[in-house]
Amino acid sequence: MEALKDIRILDMTHVQAGPTCSQLLAWMGADVIKLEPPQGDATRGQLRDIASADSLYFTMLNCNKRSITVNMKTAEGKQVFVDLLKKCDIIMENFGPGVLDRFGFTWEKLHEINPRVVMGSIKGFGSSGPYADFKAYENVAQAMGGSMSTTGVPNGRPFVTGAQIGDSGTGLHLAIGLLAALHQRDRTGQGQYVEVAMMDGIMNLCRVKFRDHQRLQRGPLPEYSVPTHKGMGAVPRAGNDSGGGQLGNAIRCKPGGTNDFIYIVVQEAVWDALARRIGPEVGMPNLATEPRFATIENRRRYQNDMWEIIGEFALRHDKRELMGILNELDVPCGPIMSTEDLANDEHVRLREMYVELDHPQRGKWMNVGMPIKLSASPAKIERSPLLGEHTDEVLKSVLGYDDARIASMKQAGAFSAPAKAPKKEKAA
Ligand SMILES: CC(C)(COP(=O)(O)OP(=O)(O)OC[C@H]1O[C@@H](n2cnc3c(N)ncnc32)[C@H](O)[C@@H]1OP(=O)(O)O)[C@@H](O)C(=O)NCCC(=O)NCCS
Repeated sequence: MEALKDIRILDMTHVQAGPTCSQLLAWMGADVIKLEPPQGDATRGQLRDIASADSLYFTMLNCNKRSITVNMKTAEGKQVFVDLLKKCDIIMENFGPGVLDRFGFTWEKLHEINPRVVMGSIKGFGSSGPYADFKAYENVAQAMGGSMSTTGVPNGRPFVTGAQIGDSGTGLHLAIGLLAALHQRDRTGQGQYVEVAMMDGIMNLCRVKFRDHQRLQRGPLPEYSVPTHKGMGAVPRAGNDSGGGQLGNAIRCKPGGTNDFIYIVVQEAVWDALARRIGPEVGMPNLATEPRFATIENRRRYQNDMWEIIGEFALRHDKRELMGILNELDVPCGPIMSTEDLANDEHVRLREMYVELDHPQRGKWMNVGMPIKLSASPAKIERSPLLGEHTDEVLKSVLGYDDARIASMKQAGAFSAPAKAPKKEKAA
């Protein structure tokens, strides 16, 4: 927790894309002050598994942060925001288009208030271009960034991926941009505006699909198991094809349950050893010299036959056994791990990638750990804050407000939602 210990972040992000970014920065040691509307980040109450507790959606994305509530629609709330801005290195947000501007805080205004502050902003489609005014969620970004059109089977529907590449993926992109901007700020004394559009982030992650898009102008894609031809406009969905220079596929294994599959990459160099191991067991003792599979070009051409033979072998073993057999032969492979497999996996526990935490409302719960391991700045994961848990603490310790000032600001509604107007009596 040393790397960013001198960095303070004013975190106005909500839902998933922004909070994953600020959580990572908090795990690297930044002091993250989560500025929430008085009713809190909407995810606190979404998909609740315990009626009176912050949801796992919230707790899993907001660890190691301090929470303050500020009503940005009051003059006093705006004053708290400005005072905090002056004390922070980074301000970040992922509101819908124009929200911060409507509060009266454009980037130009923020830069004027604190020229050193770096601003991080996530939008669905960025602040320029014809889509700039549109809101976005994970799957909207996956749809529009090229992920969905290339995921699934050729004649089936497009599919979203389980990995949250639109939200958490964009959060990662933003973290990289913020750290680079901080580095530049340290040289120049000037902050800058860092924007990541979810659609752009998805396109970045789909880069190799645009490699294939351009290759299609010159000829078919021989490594694809589905038919392709020169001039075919769009890259097709190709099931579980590897998408790289080596052939790969997900193969069903024993006992045939939903997740009894193993992904196998038939690297060029390993075919001989693999064929010698598989051949005798499936009644093909000469598989290693079989002409259909003798060269990489032939294996590409006859890959569906090859997968069938490997599949026959795989059905005789379970995925863990296969992992052992194949790794012994130096064949890259991965059993398809369910969330349950992962939650109980020794490797995962040893690498602290599924960690137990305590929470005053929900008791013991699990979070996915910190995937970036810094040798001199190991992450220490702490629970997410309750709504407004640190409002007074931050006002006193960061802003130096005294009790009387805090009380009068509370009175003015700086930290709370406006009281609802009483319902009018119906005229008799
Ligand atoms: C995610 C998203 C679709 C949610 O839309 P939404 O629920 O309508 O929320 P918005 O961000 O548009 O608006 C937030 C509202 O809360 C209000 N609000 C936020 N913080 C506030 C505060 N501290 N005090 C008072 N009001 C506050 C804003 O003023 C705004 O209200 P307004 O429309 O009256 O101005 C939208 O925020 C978005 O497109 N974000 C960018 C892309 C993104 O990050 N998507 C992925 C999310 S995982």
